Amino acid sequence: MTAIKGILLAGGTGSRLYPLTSVITKQMLPVYDKPLLYYPLATLMLAGVRDILVISTPEEQPNYQRLLGDGSQLGLSLSYAVQPEPNGIAEALLIGRSFLAGSRVMLILGDNIFFGHGLQTVLHAAREQADGATVFGYWVSDPQRFGVVELDPDGRPIAITEKPAEPRSHYAVTGLYFYDHRASDLAAELKPSARGELEITDLNRSYLELGKLSVHRLQRGFAWLDAGTPDALLDAANYVATLERRQGLKIGCIEEIAWRAGWIGDGDLERLARPIKDVDYGRYLMKLLAE
Ligand code: DAU
Repeated sequence: MTAIKGILLAGGTGSRLYPLTSVITKQMLPVYDKPLLYYPLATLMLAGVRDILVISTPEEQPNYQRLLGDGSQLGLSLSYAVQPEPNGIAEALLIGRSFLAGSRVMLILGDNIFFGHGLQTVLHAAREQADGATVFGYWVSDPQRFGVVELDPDGRPIAITEKPAEPRSHYAVTGLYFYDHRASDLAAELKPSARGELEITDLNRSYLELGKLSVHRLQRGFAWLDAGTPDALLDAANYVATLERRQGLKIGCIEEIAWRAGWIGDGDLERLARPIKDVDYGRYLMKLLAE
C-alpha cells in the first residue's frame, strides 16, 4: 500500500448547534452510542491510515488527548495540532505541513459520517492513486449547502463551486479528500474567500485546473451524513441506532476496526473492554473476543 498520512480536522465553532456546543465542541457530541469524532476516525482507519494528525481549537485539544491519547491503544500514531481560528478547511494542510513532510494525505472533517457497502474498497482505491486529488460526489436534494461539482457525461469534473446559489448539479462534495504531495504547496497559494476562509473548494479547483482532480460518485444507498444542525445530528443518531439494533453490529467502533485489522491483539482489546464491561459498548467488545 502507498504511504499516506491522515488529517482529522475537528476545529470550528459549531455555532449552528448552540447551546449544545457552548461548552463542548461539536465533534464530541454523541451520535447514538459514541462521540461524533469516532465515525470519521473509523473512516481513516478503514482506509488503512494509521499515522494521523488531529487538528482542533486550542481549548479543545486537551479533551481530544484525554479521549484518544497517543493512539497506541488502537495501534495508531496520533499527533495533535491546533487551529486557533476557523480560517478554513484548507488551512489544515498548512498546519499539517511539517507533519505531512511531503507525503500524500487523506483529510476528513470531524463531523462527516460515511457508511455503506463497499466503503473500504472505495477508500482503498482512492488511497492507491498516487497522483492528483480524489474527492467524493454525493447526490443531495439541497446542493446549495455544500461544495458542488459539475460533471460531464463521462463523470469527469467540469467545475467546482462552494455553496452556489444556483447549483448546476446535485453532486455535493463530501468532507473527505485525498491529495498527493502537492497539497500543502497548492494550499499556500490560496487567497481567503469572501467569507474570509481558505476554501477547500478552491484547493480542489487548483487540482481541477491542473487536470488532476478525480471525482468518485458514491452510489444510492450509501450514507453520507453531516451533523451540522440539530436535525442532522438526530438523523445521524437514529440512522446509527436503527442499523446497530437490527444487526447487533456497531458502526464506527474504532476498537473493533483496530482489532479486525490486526493492529491490536486479543489482550489489547480485552484491556480496553474490561473497564466498561458492564455497559453496552464494553459488552460488545467482550463479545467479539468470545466469537
Ligand atoms: O461537509 C462537507 C462540506 O464541508 C463541503 O461540501 C464544503 O465544500 C466545505 O466547505 C464544508 O462546508 P461546511 O459549510 O459544512 O463547512 P463548515 O464551516 O461547517 O466546516 C465543516 C467542519 O470543518 C466543521 O465540523 C468544522 C470544521 N472546520 C471548519 C473550518 C472552516 C474546522 O475545523 N476549521 C475551519 O477553519
